[in-house]
Amino acid sequence: MSRSIPFLELAPMHRDLADELKAKFAALLEKGLFSGGEEVEVLASSMQEFLKVPYAIPCANGTDALELALRALEVGPGDEVIVPALTWVSTAEVVKMVGANLVFCDVDADGLMDLTLLPSVISPNTKAVIPVHLYGKMMDMKSLAAIAQKTGIKVIEDAAQAFGAFQGGKSAGAYGDIGCFSFYPTKNLGALGEAGMLTSHDGGLSERLRLLLNHGQPQRDVHELIGRNSRIDTLQAAFLNVKLSYFTPWQQRRKALAKLYLDHLQHLKGIKVPSSILQENHNAHLFTIQTNQRDALKECLSKKGIGTAIHYPLPVPAMKPFGEIDAFPVAARIGKTTLSLPLHPYLREDEVRYVCEEVQRFFNKA
Ligand SMILES: Cc1ncc(COP(=O)(O)O)c(C=O)c1O
Repeated sequence: MSRSIPFLELAPMHRDLADELKAKFAALLEKGLFSGGEEVEVLASSMQEFLKVPYAIPCANGTDALELALRALEVGPGDEVIVPALTWVSTAEVVKMVGANLVFCDVDADGLMDLTLLPSVISPNTKAVIPVHLYGKMMDMKSLAAIAQKTGIKVIEDAAQAFGAFQGGKSAGAYGDIGCFSFYPTKNLGALGEAGMLTSHDGGLSERLRLLLNHGQPQRDVHELIGRNSRIDTLQAAFLNVKLSYFTPWQQRRKALAKLYLDHLQHLKGIKVPSSILQENHNAHLFTIQTNQRDALKECLSKKGIGTAIHYPLPVPAMKPFGEIDAFPVAARIGKTTLSLPLHPYLREDEVRYVCEEVQRFFNKA
């Protein structure tokens, strides 16, 4: 029997939510309100409550959030910023965008910035570090915060993949000076377009972020600093308000499916499974395995109608705009061995079982 299991399918979720989403669209169309307004304020306050943070500031997307965070902390030319060698390109791009110097740190076996290496890349010019909670798994933030405090560097958390992950009761994004989130449509909380958010526990920084993303305006026609337009669309805020109310059951569903994957795959020889995915500090955004036979497995699953994805094939320093530097062996190895299997709240148990059977068949044959 031939089946089709895409890596990610958004249509069933949106079919379920269609009436509520259409009602939001109709209401805003009627009001003619597309920037700012109550939906944006509601999103900010719901996020503050959900993440247990004093300040949440919606913005246009996750990349802008990271860049605004650097600007708010006055990071610029002459400063160094440390980022992990394995991440989505945005984390590194923004450092270049503000004119600072990029310093890469290799990752550990799970793909997170290696905290044993971090002290060796900190210099007197280091102004900030951007830890990335890759695949939805949080870095050890207590240890990172201790290093940052000792060396006086700022922490900007790239929590773009980590919405809904908590460590010691504290949300991803709540440990650093500033937290950055993405609501890109494929994220575990996705808008119907582009959207992002910043969090902070510092009132002064939050106010600065709010000004920076709105042309430096505390009020109309008063400009206090050079900023830009990185406001969230009202429509996206409204859609996110709908989706946030479903987030907890979606998260539980992801965990249940991740458990099913683990039950079937954890004893299989030849693959490394994300064994901590059921913990609170992992939001089960991605179910990412590692295997030396990644390309063959990907192709075999594709022939069986199973979609997979690679997060990410190349370490950022090895990319053309970053100098094609091949000096981060763990990131490079993960780039060659990593494979993300389908995982979303609308995936069925029988589909997960089918994926597992095909993965098992592949390794048993090998
Ligand atoms: C780790 C990471 N950082 C930053 C971003 C940037 O977010 P956005 O696509 O909303 O700009 C993403 C998402 O794509 C991401 O996964």
